[in-house]
Amino acid sequence: MAKLDQDLSGKVYVVTGANSGIGFEASRNFAARGARVVLICRSKEKGDAALANIEQETGNDQGRLYVADISSLEEVSALADQLLEDFLKIDVLCNNAGSANGRRTETREGFETTFVTNHLSGFLLTKKLMPALERASTSGLARVVFTSSYGHENSPLDFDDLGLNNGYKTLTAYGRSKLMNLLTARELQRRVGNHNIVSSSFHPGAVRTPIWRKGGLLARTIGVVIYPFMVSVEKGADTFIWLASSDDSASVNADGNYFYKRRKVKIAAHATDADAERLWDVSEELVRPFV
Ligand SMILES: NC(=O)c1ccc[n+]([C@@H]2O[C@H](COP(=O)([O-])OP(=O)(O)OC[C@H]3O[C@@H](n4cnc5c(N)ncnc54)[C@H](OP(=O)(O)O)[C@@H]3O)[C@@H](O)[C@H]2O)c1
Repeated sequence: MAKLDQDLSGKVYVVTGANSGIGFEASRNFAARGARVVLICRSKEKGDAALANIEQETGNDQGRLYVADISSLEEVSALADQLLEDFLKIDVLCNNAGSANGRRTETREGFETTFVTNHLSGFLLTKKLMPALERASTSGLARVVFTSSYGHENSPLDFDDLGLNNGYKTLTAYGRSKLMNLLTARELQRRVGNHNIVSSSFHPGAVRTPIWRKGGLLARTIGVVIYPFMVSVEKGADTFIWLASSDDSASVNADGNYFYKRRKVKIAAHATDADAERLWDVSEELVRPFV
C-alpha cells in the first residue's frame, strides 16, 4: 500500500469531529505533512487538547480551532461565515463528525438530532464553503470527503419521515444518515464535478473509537461484542487520508463514489441516483433559512 507522505504545505484542510477517533488521526496526518489544519470541535477543551497534541507531535503550529456544535444549523452557518472570512481558499473539506443516538431527540431548531448532525450540517457547511473550495480548485484539486459507513446498507430513505417520528430506532437513524452521506457525496460530484472538485465518501471499517460508547445501550453493547474484531484508529483513517490527500488516480477520479480500504466498493441497491437528487433538493429546502 503506497505511503501517504506527499507534502501538503500551503493547503488548507477543514475537518469536523477533529478532536477524536479517525478525525483526529487524519488531522494529525495532514498536519505532519505540512497542511494548515482547521479543527472543528464542539468542545473547546477537547479541541484545545487535540490542537496542542497535533502541534507537539508534528511541530506544525499553523493549526486553528473553531468551536461549533454542528447539531445546530445556526452554529454551522456562523462557522462557515467565519471560515470564509478567515480563509480565502479551502482545499479540502472533511465532513466527518457524527454520532449515533440511543433515543430520539430534537434540536432546538426542530430537527431530529442524528439527521441534522450527521447529514444536514455537512450539507450546509459544504454549500456555504463552496466559494472557498472553488477558489482552491483554480490552482489545484479541491476535495470534499464524507465519512459514511457500511451502516448505509441498513435501510432505504423514507422521504415522508426523514426525522423518524414513527418508530425511532438508533441503527435506522444512524444507517440512514450514513446513506445520506454517500448520496450527498455522489450528487455533489454530479453537480460540481467539472469544477476540479472531487467528492467522495468511505466506510472506515469497524474502528476502535469512542463513538461506540456514546450511542446509547445498543451501540455500547454492539461495541463490546465486536471490540476484538475492530481495527485500530490508524487503519480506520487510512482510506479517509488517502481520499483527502493522495494523487492516486483512483482517489482523484472518485466520481462521487464510495470507498473501503482504498477501493471502490458496491453500494446498497437502495442508494439510487434518484434518491441522491431528491435528498439534495429536500436538504436545500431545509437549510434555506440558515444559508
Ligand atoms: N468507529 C467506527 O466503527 C465507525 C464506522 C463507520 C463510520 N464511522 C463514522 O466515523 C466518523 C467519526 O467517528 P469516530 O468513529 O472517529 O468516533 P468519535 O471518536 O466519537 O468521533 C466523532 C467526532 O464527531 C464529533 N461530534 C459528534 N457530534 C458532534 C456535534 N454535535 N458537533 C460537533 N462535533 C460532533 C465528536 O465530538 P465529541 O468528541 O465532542 O463527542 C468527535 O469529535 C463518524 O461520522 C462515524 O459515523 C465510524
